[in-house]
Amino acid sequence: MIIRMQWYNLVVLLALVSFSACSKSGGTSTGGGGTGGGGGGGTTTVILKNLATPPVGVGISYDLFKNNLSYSGLIKTQFDRVTAEYQMKHGANVKNDGTYEFSRTDDFVNLAQANGLSVFGHVLAWHQNNNGTYLRSLSGAAQVNSALQNWITTMVTRYKTKVTGWDVANEVVVDGTGDLRTSANSPAGSDVFYWADQLGRNYIADAFRWANAADPAAKLFINDYNLEYDSRKLDSVIKIINELKAASVPIHGVGTQMHININTSNAGIDNMFQKLAATGLLVHVSEIDVRINPSSASPFTPTTALYDQQAQKFRYIAESYFRNVPAAQRWGLTVWNLTDADSWIVQSGKIDFPTLFDAGYIKNLRSLNIVQDYNNK
Ligand code: G3I
Repeated sequence: MIIRMQWYNLVVLLALVSFSACSKSGGTSTGGGGTGGGGGGGTTTVILKNLATPPVGVGISYDLFKNNLSYSGLIKTQFDRVTAEYQMKHGANVKNDGTYEFSRTDDFVNLAQANGLSVFGHVLAWHQNNNGTYLRSLSGAAQVNSALQNWITTMVTRYKTKVTGWDVANEVVVDGTGDLRTSANSPAGSDVFYWADQLGRNYIADAFRWANAADPAAKLFINDYNLEYDSRKLDSVIKIINELKAASVPIHGVGTQMHININTSNAGIDNMFQKLAATGLLVHVSEIDVRINPSSASPFTPTTALYDQQAQKFRYIAESYFRNVPAAQRWGLTVWNLTDADSWIVQSGKIDFPTLFDAGYIKNLRSLNIVQDYNNK
C-alpha cells in the first residue's frame, strides 16, 4: 500500500510539474539549480525520485551536465538515474580509424556516479549516430560483424558494474510495416549505418549475447518508439522479443520511448503497456516527452489549456504504467531532456514545450486544481 501511495504521489507530481503558467513562470515556483552536484535550491517541496519506488530517470547532455551548474544541480536533486542522450553512442566514442576515444564518456559516467546517480547505457546497436566513415570503410559482413561485436564488448566491459542496464538494440523495426529496418526502407545519412544490411536479422540476437557475455549482471533491453500508436510496430517488436526468448537469448527488458503528444490515445497507451507487460520482461518507459505543439505550428504560443492537457497526459503515462505493469517488471520512468530549452525537439528547430522544466530550470506548479481533483478521486 505504501508503494502504491508513493507511486500515486508520483502521478500527481508528474501532472503537477507539467502544469506551468503560459509563461511557465506563474504559480508557486520552486528553484532548480544550485551548485554543481549540489541539491536543487529554492523551495522545492517534492522531489520526483522520492515519490516512486521504480527509478525516475532523465536523458541528458554530457556537456550541460559537465558545465552547467543549474542543470547538474537539478538533475542530482530530482532524479535517480541518467541516460546520455548522445555521449554513449557509437559516433561519440569511435574514431574514423575504428579506434576508441572514451575520455568524455568516462567523465560522464564518473560525474554521474560522483553525484549518486546510476547510469543507463544508451545505445549499443542503433542505425543513427554511428561513425559512418569508419563503418563504411569496412568490407564485407565479417568485418562489420567483428566491428559490432568489438564495439559492444569493449563498451559493456569498460563500464561493467557502473552501468546497470543497456539499450542493446534500438529502433530495429520501421513504422507502419514493422519490417526489419534496413537501407531499403529507411533514409541514409552521414552517421547512419544499417547493421541488418550485411548482418541480417541475427545481429539483434548477437548484440544481446555479446553484451551479456561482457557483463552478465547488466539488464539488457530492446527499445523503440511509437509503440503506443503503431500496433503493427508494437506487434513486430513483441514478435522479436518472443523469438529471442525462444532462442534463450539473454534479453531482460523492453523500452518504450514514448515521445508522445497531448493527442496521444490513452487507449493506445494502455494497450501498449498491457502487451509489453505480457512479455514478462522488465518495462522501461525510456524517453518521455509530451509535445503541446505536435503540428509544429509557427508561430506558436502555449496556453493554459494546452498545459492542462500536457499535465493530464504525463499523469496518464504514470497511471497506466502502474495499473498495467506489475511491480516486479517496473524498470522505471525516464523523461527525455531536462528542460524545454535542451529538448531534442526544440533543438531540431521546432517550437514546443515538451519537458517537465522550463528553460529557467524552474519546476512550476501553475495550477493545483488537478491535485485537488485527483485527490478527491
Ligand atoms: O555531432 C556533434 C559532435 O561532433 C559533437 O562532438 C557532439 C558534442 O556534444 O555533438 C554532436 O552533435 C549532436 C548531438 O546530438 C549532441 O548534441 C549530433 O549531431 C546529433 O545528431 C545528436 O542528436 C541526438 C539524436 O538522438 C540523434 O539522433 C540527440 O541529442 C538525442 O536527444 C536524440 O535522442 C534519440 C534517442 O537516442 C533515440 N530515440 C529518439 C531520441 C530523439 O531523437
